[in-house]
Amino acid sequence: MKRLVLGFGTLVMAATVAVAHEGVKDPLVKARMDLMGEVKDNTGTLGNMLKGKIPFDAAQAEAARLALLDHAKAIPAAFETPATDPKTEAAPAIWTDWDDFIAKTNGMITAVEAADTSSMDTLRAGMGAIGGSCKACHKSYRID
Ligand code: HEC
Repeated sequence: MKRLVLGFGTLVMAATVAVAHEGVKDPLVKARMDLMGEVKDNTGTLGNMLKGKIPFDAAQAEAARLALLDHAKAIPAAFETPATDPKTEAAPAIWTDWDDFIAKTNGMITAVEAADTSSMDTLRAGMGAIGGSCKACHKSYRID
């Protein structure tokens, strides 16, 4: 039962971000873009709370943080195979500097683990490191 529920959630998630990735033919590339799309959505939820665009809700913030933690832990498997596609933004250096790519992944895991979602102030304090961990990886491994 648990697996069924999980599977359904994944399906719904995939459906919401699919539109942004129309035309991506390689399924592995699409899957890792979808993963990053989810990362963006959950980071956006936290950012919107800090900006006052949506009300701060500690439970919702913690759910977003836990989702981000899952996503970060899923990065190595999602990128392990050097799949490519005309629409990819992944830099080939990922697969020549794999250990460093993993170090950048661990940077995100550490930042998300350290973030405290119990109040606006603690969330704000942790958000800089989360944002920094995205930038640190994108700078080396994402082509814009
Ligand atoms: C360890 C490396 C790494 C970390 C950490 C990382 N990203 Fe990414 N991200 C990538 C790579 C590589 C791509 C390009 C993937 C592709 O196009 O195949 C990407 C792509 C994206 C995209 C574009 C997805 C699309 O639609 O094509 C978004 C949005 C994104 N990342 C957001 C984030 C945010 C927000 C964070 C931090 C909370 C983050 N990423 C952390 C490596 C990373």
